[in-house]
Amino acid sequence: MYVVLLGAPGAGKGTQASTLSREMNLPHVASGDLFREALRSRTELGLLAKSYVEEGELVPDEITINMILERTALPDCASGCLFDGFPRTMDQAEALDKRLAEAGRSIDLAVYIDVPEDELVKRLSGRWICKNCQAPYHMLTSPPRAPGKCDRCGGELYQRPDDQEETVRERLKVFLSQTVPILDYYRKQHKLVEMDGCKGIQELAGEMISLLKKREE
Ligand code: AP5
Repeated sequence: MYVVLLGAPGAGKGTQASTLSREMNLPHVASGDLFREALRSRTELGLLAKSYVEEGELVPDEITINMILERTALPDCASGCLFDGFPRTMDQAEALDKRLAEAGRSIDLAVYIDVPEDELVKRLSGRWICKNCQAPYHMLTSPPRAPGKCDRCGGELYQRPDDQEETVRERLKVFLSQTVPILDYYRKQHKLVEMDGCKGIQELAGEMISLLKKREE
C-alpha cells in the first residue's frame, strides 16, 4: 500500500507517520527528514537544499523528486510506503504517479490532516525533535518523560531552526500556494480522505489505522 500524508507544517504528519509506520509495517519516507540528514552529513544534496530549508522555501522539484525516487527504489519500498512531506507540488505528484505506474503500482490513499493556522503556529513553537530517531514531542501537549530525552531511544531533543515564527509563517504561505492545489489532484482521483487534525494524537492515530486497515482488506 502506498499512502501520502498531506498537511500544513505542524499538522502532525510526522507524528502520525511514526505510529502508522510501526502499526502498518510500512517504511516512513519523509522528505524533510532526508533533507535534514543530508544537511547534517554535509553531502552535496545537503549543500543544495540548505538555503531553501533554512528559509522555509521548497527545495526545487528536480532535486526533491530525484531524492525521493532514489529512496523509493530501495527494496523496502517495493510493496508500499508512507510518504510524509512529499509530494508538495503538482510536478512532484505527477512524477510520483508516473514512477509508480511504471512499476504497475499507484497511490492507494492520500490523507489530508486539516489544522487551523493559529494551532499550527502553537504546535511548531513548542515542538522538540529527537536528533537520533526524529520522534516529535511538544512541551505542553506531548512532553517526553525525562526532560530533553527521547522516550523511544534516549536520544537528545532539539528545536528545528525553521520553527522560528517568521520562517513558520513563510512555510505556511508556501503550503497554501504550492501544496493546497494537489488536494484537488487526489480528490479528482477519489483518493483523498480529509481528517480533523485538531483531535488528540492517539484518537487520530486510531482513526487512521482503521482507515488504512480497511483499505488493505
Ligand atoms: P518538513 O520536515 O516536511 O516540514 P513540514 O511539512 O513543514 O512539516 P513539519 O515536520 O514541520 O510538521 P508535521 O506535520 O510533520 O508535524 P509534527 O508531527 O512534527 O519540511 C521541512 C523543509 O524541507 C521544507 O520547508 C522544505 O524546505 C523542505 N522540503 C521537505 N519536503 C519537501 C518537498 N516535498 N519539496 C520541496 N521541499 C521540501 O507535529 C508538530 C507538533 O505538533 C509536534 O510538537 C507534535 O507533538 C504536535 N502535534 C502533532 N499532532 C498533534 C495533535 N493532534 N494535537 C496536538 N499536538 C499535536
